[in-house]
Amino acid sequence: MSDAPNRHVDFAGRILIVGFGCIARGVLPLLFRHVGITRDRVRIVSADASHAALAREWGVALRVEPLTRANYRRVLAEELGPGDFLLNLSIDVGSVDLIEWCRDHGVLYLDACIEPWAGGYTDPALTPSQRSNYALREQALALRRPGAQPTAVLTHGVNPGLVSHFVKQALLDVAEAVGAPAQQPADRAGWAALAQRLGVKVIHIAERDTQVARVPKRRGEFVNTWSVEGFVGEGSQPAELGWGSHERALPPDARRHGFGCDAAIYLLRPGAGTPVRSWTPLEGPYRGFLVTHGESISIADHLTVRAPDGSVAYRPTVHYAYHPCDDAVLSLHELAGREWRLQDGRRTLEAGDIVDGMDELGVLLGGHARTAYWYGSRLTNDEARALAPLNNATSLQTAAGVLAGLVWAMRHPERGVVDPDEMDFREVLAVARPYLGEIVGVFGDWTPLQRRGELFPEDLDTDDPWQFSNVRVR
Ligand SMILES: NC(=O)c1ccc[n+]([C@@H]2O[C@H](COP(=O)([O-])OP(=O)(O)OC[C@H]3O[C@@H](n4cnc5c(N)ncnc54)[C@H](O)[C@@H]3O)[C@@H](O)[C@H]2O)c1
Repeated sequence: MSDAPNRHVDFAGRILIVGFGCIARGVLPLLFRHVGITRDRVRIVSADASHAALAREWGVALRVEPLTRANYRRVLAEELGPGDFLLNLSIDVGSVDLIEWCRDHGVLYLDACIEPWAGGYTDPALTPSQRSNYALREQALALRRPGAQPTAVLTHGVNPGLVSHFVKQALLDVAEAVGAPAQQPADRAGWAALAQRLGVKVIHIAERDTQVARVPKRRGEFVNTWSVEGFVGEGSQPAELGWGSHERALPPDARRHGFGCDAAIYLLRPGAGTPVRSWTPLEGPYRGFLVTHGESISIADHLTVRAPDGSVAYRPTVHYAYHPCDDAVLSLHELAGREWRLQDGRRTLEAGDIVDGMDELGVLLGGHARTAYWYGSRLTNDEARALAPLNNATSLQTAAGVLAGLVWAMRHPERGVVDPDEMDFREVLAVARPYLGEIVGVFGDWTPLQRRGELFPEDLDTDDPWQFSNVRVR
């Protein structure tokens, strides 16, 4: 197959990839397939030399030098200049400092998560609010300046990332299904008004990863389908959720941040220890973890309708309900038993280590006239392997989002700092689409009250199934 018809953009600058982990390796084949750039203009800087042979095989130089607060300015200045691109796919590197540096040096930027510097997720000297994604997003948004600025796309993998675009398609689908089709809204206010008109009360990022490892999890080992350290890091942050206007009572362990957009709250407990109920079409009802993610905050913020006096007239509750692969669930159980001290054994499953399964990942819109609607991607590991080398299902969904965000930034290089929600969803999804397997939209009659209280009495809010108190597992 010739590369030319697949080329979405030609890029004249250099690209520096920070980190060469599971996601960066998965992006590499997509990058060279779809972006016109020679291999000598792509370089990697990473903390360690693992996969150096792979980088050589792909003709890409790998520099081993962990970025720190002390050295990042020097390293970036040696690698990048105006018109270049910093693709940050690392863990433990302070995204906000990198974004600021890129803004000041005319460099485009994209990451898949706003990361703090090493230790930032679990520094006991910081308050839970300071360890939140809410705080990191506010710091990133504070870098905005009036006028044209180099584009910096925040958090653009699949989730966060593509799921913001799935939400828009899902809103249009629900409008159609309830007999009130909508024109595509032109701006943020239009999308928020549409969600309000449809009565969407909750948006879950509903993910069921069913990938199965050839070698099952061993005792004392954490197994996952993407970064173990990345997952445990975010799972150790406080649980965070966009807080909807239909909610009647703030959970007793919830707190507001007291600064910024106020679209989200946090709980005084880790997300990986906060189970919630959700639903996907293939899995049916399931328990996932309310792990904090950027999209829970940005989607809630973007879909907020304000009254003339500035008070919140409408906002959906938005959060992640993550059922990772079964070995990761066992790993989490063991981790919690160890009071969140990470196991010594760590294994990220590559495509060849996986014998079966898929990542069923989408958005569940609940509370509207058709009850529940899930829209998203079903990608099996076998499909992922056939579509692109170096990828399992999870990494390919993410890499598709990274590619689509990168292409968008190259096509729109002067947008400044942008949330995924501020990008053209059709343009982005068109680039990602070939790597997402089956895209489906399914209506269901599931609510978090289904089959509740049958065997034992439960404290339920039966007036409104979509209260968070019904969704949360207590
Ligand atoms: N948005 C999404 O859909 C999504 C999905 C998966 C992962 N992610 C995010 O993508 C990022 C990468 O995830 P991954 O699974 O590839 O992680 P990984 O652990 O597999 O790889 C991390 C890489 O970062 C490098 N690194 C660590 N410290 C560094 C430093 N100080 N300087 C330079 N490099 C350093 C490591 O050497 C490694 O190559 C994480 O932020 C993760 O949260 C986002």
